Amino acid sequence: MKKIISIVGARPQFIKHAPMQLELQKYFEALTIHTGQHYDENMSAVFFNELNMPPPDFLFDIGGSKPQGEQTGIMMKEIEAVCMKEKPDALLVYGDTNSTLAGTLVAAKMHIPQIHIEAGLRSFNRDMPEEINRIVADEFAYLLFCPTDQAIDNLKKEGITHNRIFKCGDVMCDMVKLMEPKSKRPVEYPYYFVTIHRPYNTDENSRLIHILQTLNNLDKKVIFSIHPRTVARLLQYGIDIKEFNNILFVPPTGYVESISYQKFSECVITDSGGIQKEAYILGKKCITLRSETEWTETLQNGWNTLAFDDLTQIKTAIHQKPGEHLGPIYGDGLAAAEITAIIKKHI
Ligand code: UD1
Ligand code: UDP
Repeated sequence: MKKIISIVGARPQFIKHAPMQLELQKYFEALTIHTGQHYDENMSAVFFNELNMPPPDFLFDIGGSKPQGEQTGIMMKEIEAVCMKEKPDALLVYGDTNSTLAGTLVAAKMHIPQIHIEAGLRSFNRDMPEEINRIVADEFAYLLFCPTDQAIDNLKKEGITHNRIFKCGDVMCDMVKLMEPKSKRPVEYPYYFVTIHRPYNTDENSRLIHILQTLNNLDKKVIFSIHPRTVARLLQYGIDIKEFNNILFVPPTGYVESISYQKFSECVITDSGGIQKEAYILGKKCITLRSETEWTETLQNGWNTLAFDDLTQIKTAIHQKPGEHLGPIYGDGLAAAEITAIIKKHI
């Protein structure tokens, strides 16, 4: 049996890995490295339990908050050691985090075929660490799985045109389809659901306060699932969340709870990549607090609206009804099975 090691480390990667692990383990010795990038119980273990994944075979303790290079370097050292011992036939990475980058660089240097799931996404904003990670992951990938036609076009423009690029839908869509039936209305009153964790929204005191003030002045209650990066910044800046009495701050939720909060909200307000897609799949209007998005399809017919410099746009966008829904642009919920069938042919 061929051996594939999947590398995960951050919240969205545990979610993407759940349907893939289920398929991979049917045909491969499918091991998992958890880099330890996210480590709180509600950012990590909760997903392994809730989504029925076996615990990771290797779990690193990279020791919390670190600068980009140091965090990536420690992960690389640990991943390399596992690969020297386990000699995998392929390394599989997801998305665009520093865990993705670390896995990619180790695979490239050890001449291990690298598989990239969620290939070809581009925000064209190189200030984002994720954009650098995506470009490197795609450049070195042996098999590239793109969720959309736009992603394939982006690769073409960078000269990545070999015949190991496939469009198979989005594994996050698999998860939404699988778990949405378990969703339940979380509260009786109408609310907007919010998540914010991008450095350009959190890592400057005045910007973070401005966002909180804007949310606090909305016409309906706000439920804000608060990412640990955002918690760390609130503490660092001495911002007292009790001042924002229209906002109910909740700790990071499990997956079904997150889908439930989105599905039953009046509107989703976020800077998350995954939540923009999930809101679209759930047929929910989304407002994205960013100046650009890699998930450009969601912008069509107003299902997703960008608001960045001028936050007053949130108020207007909330009440704009989206047009026709474009249907299943992220696939039919069977991406993991399709991807695994292709991996079987090539590895
Ligand atoms: C990372 C990814 C980002 C992704 C996000 C998903 C990179 C460069 N960024 O951002 O693409 O959208 O994960 O959520 O890889 N922290 C905790 N406990 C945890 C995790 C984080 O306290 O379990 C705190 C630490 O203070 C840490 C900070 O959050 O320094 C940031 O964590 P980090 O993983 O570096 O970046 P994210 O903002 O989570
Ligand atoms: N999510 C969750 N609980 C939360 C917030 C988000 O389970 O409190 C899920 C969400 O449904 C989506 C994923 O986490 O599947 C998105 O991860 P995140 O926003 O951290 O990262 P990004 O997608 O921006 O990289």
